[in-house]
Amino acid sequence: MFNKSQEEKIKHLETPFYYYDLALLNTTLDQAKAAADKYDFHVHYALKANFNDRLLETIQGKGFGADCVSGNEVQKAIDSGFPASKITFAGVGKSDKEIRMALKHGIFTFNVESIQEMEVINELAEEEGVVASVSLRINPNVDAHTHHYITTGLDENKFGVPTSELEKAAAVIRKSANVELMGLHFHVGSQITDMNVFKSLCVKVNEWKNWFEERGTQIKVLNVGGGLGVDYQQPDAHPIPDFEAYFAVFDKFLERSAQQEVHFELGRALIAQCGSLVSKVLYTKSGIKKHFLVLDAGMTELMRPALYQAYHQIERVGGDHAQAATLNYDVVGPICESSDCFGKEVPLPESKRGDLIAIRTAGAYGEVMASRYNLRDEIRYVYDSEL
Ligand code: LLP
Repeated sequence: MFNKSQEEKIKHLETPFYYYDLALLNTTLDQAKAAADKYDFHVHYALKANFNDRLLETIQGKGFGADCVSGNEVQKAIDSGFPASKITFAGVGKSDKEIRMALKHGIFTFNVESIQEMEVINELAEEEGVVASVSLRINPNVDAHTHHYITTGLDENKFGVPTSELEKAAAVIRKSANVELMGLHFHVGSQITDMNVFKSLCVKVNEWKNWFEERGTQIKVLNVGGGLGVDYQQPDAHPIPDFEAYFAVFDKFLERSAQQEVHFELGRALIAQCGSLVSKVLYTKSGIKKHFLVLDAGMTELMRPALYQAYHQIERVGGDHAQAATLNYDVVGPICESSDCFGKEVPLPESKRGDLIAIRTAGAYGEVMASRYNLRDEIRYVYDSEL
């Protein structure tokens, strides 16, 4: 992952830190944009995946919109140069303060998650003297076949309006003078690698779009959410997701009229592979059954393995790999929790105190989910241009 001269520089940096490869990010964004432009699709970047300033600046510079889930994310997107006309605001629990703020900015649309929220947006828009653009998030009951913590489109999930309530939602929208229905919104889950899931989603989107049109409501925007997965097992073999194949599914299976826009909210697929967490081995120890590598990074820097049992490739940075014998290590962090473990029985060259370790595919839901638990240091980060 790093060349010799980069390895030399990294040795002198304070660890742990997130390393961001902006060159890879640029290539990834260019490929995503080219693939989407082919079909006139609009892509919003989901800020929740990572709101690091340099990454946002780069993404904004390529003409992507922004998908936000809090008032602070909306503000961050604006401050980073995303035009308000390209900002969507989702989330099941938008506060009055957040709604008012987004109304003042005149964002593209609110993705509304309940009938009561629709009524509140209408009231607040009336108070502000504006008409809010809203999209109705429909829970389509599609199984994303991904980790149950990141599945969002099933009947049992808290997201969106259940289809049994659509009649009521449509009536509320009709009688609300200060909301205007812009579109329909769907999002079924994250880290989806099976394109059939998106095909099933298209079938549902068509069904519900027709349902509205049959009732005389025109739908301008079909927002199909995000969720495209990345290859955590082999980041070097697949550094860039297959955006062509992904968008082609929607082009093929989504029914849309010439005036209808299709919008996406991609997070992980755009930025996961450009980030790695770089850490140092503090201690090695061998128990009766196990060899442990104790790193200076833990679940406080990258929570995904502890929270979702997520797999991330772990590799040694530098050193003479060819010479060293391989051992199977449990790679753990310094936090006082047994779940603070990045991987079990990970084959690595025999390691010593001071060796550098990279945990790959950490650009999405890494830095943003870090915490100060155990009063850890603030997160540090380094960009490719600095090495
Ligand atoms: N749109 C909505 C409404 C979402 O809820 C999400 C992610 C996205 C878009 C972006 O999804 P993506 O393209 O990144 O899959 N922390 C978890 C992932 C949580 C995803 C939450 N929603 C993880 O580390 O895997």
